[in-house]
Amino acid sequence: MIAADVTAKHIVITGGASGIGAETARLLASRGAKVSIGDRNIELGQQVARELTELGYSAQFTVVDVTDVDSVNEFYRQAVNHFGDMHVALNNAGVDHNPARMLDVPDEEFHRNIAVNLTGVWYCMKQALHYMTQSGGGHIINLASIAGTSGAPMISAYGAAKHGVIGLTKSVAIEYARSNIRVNAVCPSFVKTPMVEHVMSGLNDKQKASLINANPMKRLGEPHEIAGAIAWLCSDESSFMTGHSVVLDGGLTA
Ligand SMILES: NC(=O)c1ccc[n+]([C@@H]2O[C@H](COP(=O)([O-])OP(=O)(O)OC[C@H]3O[C@@H](n4cnc5c(N)ncnc54)[C@H](O)[C@@H]3O)[C@@H](O)[C@H]2O)c1
Repeated sequence: MIAADVTAKHIVITGGASGIGAETARLLASRGAKVSIGDRNIELGQQVARELTELGYSAQFTVVDVTDVDSVNEFYRQAVNHFGDMHVALNNAGVDHNPARMLDVPDEEFHRNIAVNLTGVWYCMKQALHYMTQSGGGHIINLASIAGTSGAPMISAYGAAKHGVIGLTKSVAIEYARSNIRVNAVCPSFVKTPMVEHVMSGLNDKQKASLINANPMKRLGEPHEIAGAIAWLCSDESSFMTGHSVVLDGGLTA
């Protein structure tokens, strides 16, 4: 199979220090993309960028907190300054949710989820649109979740934020379809990343087994399986797709 071509594309990734973001940065850089990584975790973000540059790939890291509009604006400014016009903005930074029914969810958990998982995407999309309307186009890819396509008990704030991301994806895709700017979402189920390891650490063996066995494939997703789909989205092969969600869930929501 021929790999999706992302050669020389400048791809800006938030949350690129860990999990799906880091794996996607690795895959895209290895295929010749220029990768600007942003994350609030400076040590891990620098580590991923260093790993890639030592392999001879084009990558750079800038610290960003997606909940802070000034920090987001500065991150995009530095990315465009470093590698030039941005072709893809991958809005991937996110936080999990401590499992509980709504009455037991502190309001702070709701505000934290909305701030990172929804407002963060809003700020990043605005910056991406700002640069892409000037440069003649681009593709915004938002990391949502199957918790954004169907009800997900015990993580109501996360689900609300991810449904919001899909709403933004659809509306903005229509608004900018004539401006050569596409907007799509990616919706994984549980994938083996530090985020899910954290969630699993709060479960007993029976709960872990039932979470895994709920999936028709009887396993969790692997980060590279999400990265591969994102690479295709980043390529021109997905050129007629906008306003949609790519569900990667082993058949869980089939
Ligand atoms: N892993 C899964 O099962 C799964 C499933 C569906 C959707 N997702 C989504 O995929 C995305 C990536 O998740 P992951 O599993 O790789 O998680 P992860 O915890 O491994 O990585 C998330 C990254 O986001 C960064 N981040 C968090 N808050 C930030 C902030 N305010 N500003 C900048 N960076 C911040 C973290 O430092 C981390 O590097 C998230 O949006 C998540 O909701 C993950």
